[in-house]
Order: sequence, then structure tokens, then C-alpha cells
Amino acid sequence: MSLTLSSPELIQTLVNEINHSAACLASNGTFASDISRRTLIATAEKLVLATRSPEENIFAIAQQPAQNAALRCAIALGIPSELAVDGSPRSVDELAVATGAEKTLLARILRACASTSLMIETSEHHYAHNSVSRTLLSPTNRALLTLMYDYNGRGVLALPEFLKSRHWCDAGSYTDCAFMLGSRTELPMWEYRDQDEDCKRIFDLGMQSEIVASLSTGKPSGPFPFGEELALGEHRREEEPVTIVDIGGGRGQALEQIRADHPELTGRFVLMDLAPVIDSAVAAGLPSWIEPVAGSFFDPLPIQGARAYFIRRVMHNWDDKACRIILRNTAAAMEPSFSRLLITDMVVDDVGAVREMAWEDLNMMTIGGVERTERQWRELLDECGLRAHKIWRNSAIEHAIIDARLK
Ligand SMILES: C[S@@+](CC[C@H](N)C(=O)[O-])C[C@H]1O[C@@H](n2cnc3c(N)ncnc32)[C@H](O)[C@@H]1O
Repeated sequence: MSLTLSSPELIQTLVNEINHSAACLASNGTFASDISRRTLIATAEKLVLATRSPEENIFAIAQQPAQNAALRCAIALGIPSELAVDGSPRSVDELAVATGAEKTLLARILRACASTSLMIETSEHHYAHNSVSRTLLSPTNRALLTLMYDYNGRGVLALPEFLKSRHWCDAGSYTDCAFMLGSRTELPMWEYRDQDEDCKRIFDLGMQSEIVASLSTGKPSGPFPFGEELALGEHRREEEPVTIVDIGGGRGQALEQIRADHPELTGRFVLMDLAPVIDSAVAAGLPSWIEPVAGSFFDPLPIQGARAYFIRRVMHNWDDKACRIILRNTAAAMEPSFSRLLITDMVVDDVGAVREMAWEDLNMMTIGGVERTERQWRELLDECGLRAHKIWRNSAIEHAIIDARLK
């Protein structure tokens, strides 16, 4: 065969490394550590890249939008709930009747899904669930993927045109960004969401998806030992303080995860977000132990002197100028030597940034946000009267928790 492989000289070494990593797989299908599992994935991916020609590699990347479209069509058609839960196959004819889609059209969509292992093709025109399609049985997972395709996707597709229009000199801002260009709207992200019922519902639901949480190893609430670190100890006082204010906390999903992972935590738990989000959280049935508070983090915070101000997956939505306002408002609410600010977000490595972070940074760029390196976090905190006391992080791909204190 005359095909020129991308890196033929690496193939044998990579195969040896894969055999070595696979030897760490226990007979019950688990790895001794998550690092060894991730090493195996990374090596297997390198092997694929080395064994394809450069043209095949670049074409595989260019075809990815079609893969995303196949997934989005399957979700829109309700295919995951139409496939038999017990894993037995269903025919395209049956699925066409169930979904109302035309048979030949549906067959093409299902074929595309099966070609990337989104489900299994058991025989001609017959499909069944696999472990990937089963994750789509969860409405929150479907919502997250819909959010990424329908809303984030518009911004991603418009990104080259948007950056070119700015002569590649800056990435835009919250009120002037690729999302607005791609969505043909004058409204930035949150204003757009709050006036569009579908977007609001999908966003609220998607933020509760277990996909993002499960990308981190360990507990869904992350690597921070909330119980130990937030115990009152010598700070015990007459009045019960607010233990955590979850700033921009959505429907309270993080508070619920923290409470489930750390039942020893006591005190008051406050959920703060914009009024429309708080209203829908209350309407959806917020647990009675969560106190809802409507407010904007661009105004002085409504709760002073809490033990912890927690802000998860929020700061990356905003540029430095906006983040400085959020941080200064939070610092102004903190009590010296008592309050902490806990920021859960990505901390991007200076060199060799993992794909999940580098890609998410571009996703954030579409709405005027950014994923930050440790140096960028430290500088930002420093400018706002805060210092990073400790960064809790299990691995390079995980969301970190930055424990920040007043300087
Ligand atoms: C990416 S979501 C993260 C939600 C939640 N913290 C989580 O980790 O699942 C960002 C949140 O910031 C909220 N938000 C946006 N602008 C806000 C503002 N000015 N004040 C308070 N919350 C805001 C949004 O409504 C949304 O719930």
C-alpha cells in the first residue's frame, strides 16, 4: 500500500505501551488508578493518529460536525427512549413508526450514529442500545448535549468569522461575541436564555447533567474536603453562620452534590442566582434546606460573612474585567480570617493543556469567557484583594477548587 502514514516509526512503541497499560487492567474490568486508564486512552489515540495518513487525520477532524448532527438528530427524534431498554434490537421500520420519521431518512441517521458507536447495528436495518446510547436515557444528559449543539454550537461555527471581523486582535466580550453573531441576536448569552423558554429549560436541565460531574474522578462535588475544611472549630459562635453561598448556583445542583458527599456539613445553605433562575429553581421544587436568594454578582452580595462563597463553572463565562467585579463584590462580603472563596473551574496547564480544557476555552470564547491558567488565576485574585491559599486538584483534566482568602 502506498499510503504515507503519519508516524510509522511510533507504531510499534505505541502498541508495546498499550500492551503494558492493558496489563494493569484487573479481571473485574477496573484499573488500579485512573491515571493508568487515562494513559491507555491517550496512547490508543496516539496510535490511531500515527497509523492514519495525515490526510485521513485532517479529514476525520473536518467530518466531526456530521457526527454531532447525527447525535443531535437521534436526540430530537427520541431514539434513546424508543430503543428497547433490555438491549434487544428494533428495526428501522418499527423506529420509523414510533418516531414519525420517513424510513429511508431515519436509516441514514441511524447508520451514521452506529458508525461512531453511538448505538449498535445488530443486523441490516436493526439497532440496539449500547453503553453510550444508554447515557442518553437521562434527560439532563440529553439537555447538556442539546445545549452544546443548539446554542454553544452556533457560536463555535461563527467563531472564525467573528474573530476575522475583529482582525484577530481580540476575542470579544460578553456583549459582543461569536454566540451573538451565530445566533443572529442582539442579546448576550444570559439575556438570550432568559427570554427564550426553550433555551432556559434546556440550560437549567443541562447544568444538572451528570456528564460534567463524572468527567472528574472522585466525588461529584470535587476534591475539596468540605466537611473538614469548613468545620467551625475555633470560629464557633452563638449564631449559626451561613455555611455556603453558592453564587450563580443554577438550580442548586452543586449544593445537593456537596450535601450528599459531605453529610457532616451543618448550617445554612444559600443558593444565589439571577431572579428568573431562582424562580424556576423554586418552581421545580428546591429542597427546603436550601435558601433561595435572587441577585446579581455584579451588585454587592446580599449575604455578608458566610463561611464559604462557592462559585462553580461561572468565572470561565466571563472576561477579566467582569471577573474583577465579581471577585471584588465577593471579597467585600467576606469576613477576614473566617470566610473563604471557593472557585471551581478549570486550571489549564501552561504546557501540554489537555484537549478537554483547550476546547472548552474556545467554547467559552464564544460567549466572551476564558479558561485560565494557574498564573492567570493568581494574578486575577491578587488584583482583587485575594490570594490563592491552596489549589485542590486530583488530576490535570479535572475541575480544580481554588481556596482563596482575603489578603
Ligand atoms: C455555567 S452556569 C453554572 C451553574 C452552576 N454553578 C453549576 O456549576 O452547575 C452559570 C450560572 O451563572 C448564572 N449567572 C449569570 N449571570 C449572573 C449574574 N449576573 N448573577 C448571578 N448569577 C449569574 C447563570 O444563571 C448560571 O446559573
